[in-house]
Amino acid sequence: MRKKVTIVGAGNVGATAAHWIASKELADVVLIDVVEGIPQGKGLDLLEAMPIAKTDCHIVGTNDYTITANSDIVVITAGIPRKPGMSRDDLLQTNYKIMSDVVGKVTANSPNCILIIVSNPLDAMAQAAFRQAKFNRERVIGMAGVLDSARFRTFIAEELNVSVENVTAFVLGGHGDTMVPLTRYSTVAGIPITELIPKDRLDVIVQRTRDGGAEIVKYLKTGSAYYAPSAATVEMVEAILKDKKKILPCAAYLEGEYGISGYYIGVPCKLGTRGIEQIIEIKLTAEEDAALKKSAAAVKELCAVIGV
Ligand code: NAI
Ligand code: 2OP
Repeated sequence: MRKKVTIVGAGNVGATAAHWIASKELADVVLIDVVEGIPQGKGLDLLEAMPIAKTDCHIVGTNDYTITANSDIVVITAGIPRKPGMSRDDLLQTNYKIMSDVVGKVTANSPNCILIIVSNPLDAMAQAAFRQAKFNRERVIGMAGVLDSARFRTFIAEELNVSVENVTAFVLGGHGDTMVPLTRYSTVAGIPITELIPKDRLDVIVQRTRDGGAEIVKYLKTGSAYYAPSAATVEMVEAILKDKKKILPCAAYLEGEYGISGYYIGVPCKLGTRGIEQIIEIKLTAEEDAALKKSAAAVKELCAVIGV
């Protein structure tokens, strides 16, 4: 029997994630949204693409949570995206209300699922979902690090004119202005990028990575990025469904790792069938550690506003 993935929010990220999942034939997909017609229309349209894509995934769009019952993974993208001039944090109150509404319905129908949270501000929304779902921390995971690292990898590959496949890079911390691109742990074919790219250029690339979301919002004007975010989400979905034990940067609830307790923050995690199967603790320099703590403090502030 095929696995079942529900995607809450049939907007740009949600629908595109459904597309990636179906085209990779990873699972059957339920697309659910509060707006009537949109998930049904996008779901049917995608289903009708399957004979051409040569995949047998079943896709259905709905407004009814009973259809989502017993999902293996539920991806939550419901919420509003930012517009030019807005930070991710400006979405806090609106998306917190939406998250609270959605998590209750999802967990009532899929009590054993793994939740992947995408809605912004990411770390605070993951924390809100974790508090409400009352799942163990292995089963509530935030998506941001894979996206931020993909942006970092893209810019490194462009700078050196090498294949993106050669580039490994890690961005840790919260999904916001304080994110921590780790140049020391980033390599091209195993060669540290600090040996290949001069510091002044690397500083530019690091800043462009931090501003990566805003760069797209500025172009789109009416919303935010969705191709790379949905591809990043589906890399996590695939790692879990295929029990790949893949190490990816994910927002995880820390209980003392990296000297941080009680908050979601982006760290390297091993993803497999059980969700986060291990949080990998890498050695940080004093400067990197300070940057991670600063990022955690920013997450803590947001969580305090919504009391999670
Ligand atoms: P969108 O506006 O295209 O889609 C959001 C969808 O959520 C809409 O279809 C809307 O009807 C639906 N929705 C709203 N309230 C709902 C509810 N109570 N129940 C079910 N569905 C509901 O936005 P987009 O671009 O898909 O972004 C979605 C969220 O993901 C935003 O908060 C955005 O900031 C965030 N995001 C996070 C990223 C990350 O790295 N973590 C990357 C990209 C986006
Ligand atoms: C991004 O980084 C908006 O968080 C979203 O593109």
